[in-house]
Amino acid sequence: MIKTANKDSIQEAATCLRRGDLVAIPTETVYGLAANALDENAVKKIFALKNRPAINPLIIHVPSLEMADRFVVINDMARRLATAFWPGALTMILPRRENCAIAPSASAGLPTLAVRVPSHPVALELLRSTGLPLAAPSANPSGTISPTTPRHVIQGFGDRSPMTLAAGPCKIGLESTIIDLSTNAPEILRAGGITPEQISDVLGQNIPLYDSTSAQSTDDQQAPKSPGLLLKHYSPSIPVRLNAIDLEQGEALLAFGSDKFMGIKNGGGPASALPDHSRMNLSEEGDLDEAAANLFKMMRALDNPAHKGIAVMAIPNTGIGIAINDRLKRAAG
Ligand code: TXA
Ligand code: MG
Repeated sequence: MIKTANKDSIQEAATCLRRGDLVAIPTETVYGLAANALDENAVKKIFALKNRPAINPLIIHVPSLEMADRFVVINDMARRLATAFWPGALTMILPRRENCAIAPSASAGLPTLAVRVPSHPVALELLRSTGLPLAAPSANPSGTISPTTPRHVIQGFGDRSPMTLAAGPCKIGLESTIIDLSTNAPEILRAGGITPEQISDVLGQNIPLYDSTSAQSTDDQQAPKSPGLLLKHYSPSIPVRLNAIDLEQGEALLAFGSDKFMGIKNGGGPASALPDHSRMNLSEEGDLDEAAANLFKMMRALDNPAHKGIAVMAIPNTGIGIAINDRLKRAAG
């Protein structure tokens, strides 16, 4: 059931969470499927509803660095990054404290834990009023595209949908950046809302971006860096073609910037002749933030069997464009 987020519905959601039920919540990145992270049974409900493999750990959302400090060992880099980016779209992987009370299944039995303080006012109010750490993966069935609107959540789970707190479309529209600070060789495991440049600026050193799209899931010499990143990801039911400079007949267009000079091959005419439902523009102005916010919604809309495929124009690989290209590569792969 969708409920507009307000004082009353947030209290109702807090009650649901305290008694061990799931609630879908808005965050600035994507909608999350939240449960009390201290409650093993509640956490199991997340894995069941999403049909998520038990080996894929969850992000623990907390209202403050102080609460994070109860569960993980905050090192110097983590403290600097938290000061710069929390609340915000940065998830840090840190060693679990010995007496950490988070349900072991939430982090898939790993000795590390992913933590983040979200900046969305509704998520923060819920975290503060429950006083609980909330485990929350994206609120979509495993292997499908992350939801950026309340309606996407309901489309994914249908009549099994949990109470959903609605607060409009997500501002960033892509999942958080994940940085692994649990070893002495920090690495960015997932590009996201906070860019590698922003992180390197704060730390005064370059932090490499781990290329999970080229990682070998069969390589069992080394434990996977981030189990979830190796799993099958969202791929539309139709082929996705990247860096398109023209269109095949029957393809839909996902444009970025002007598509004035895009043509359809074999005398198909200009792309501008396509109907609106077959031609969408991530950002006519070429604004990467706007493109990120539109990406998942437009991919969903174009993923329609009436199209032979989706042709995507090139996106500059800078700033949040790195995260956009990461998601597009996964969709095309
Ligand atoms: O923006 C976001 O991060 C959203 C919102 C709801 O906060 N959440 C999200 O969660 O995207 P999810 O579960 O879809 O992605 C979490 C990723 C997975 O790829 C998982 O494998 C990785 O984080 N992860 C979680 N704990 C980890 C750990 N201890 N070590 C390595 N990777 C971890
Ligand atoms: Mg997800």
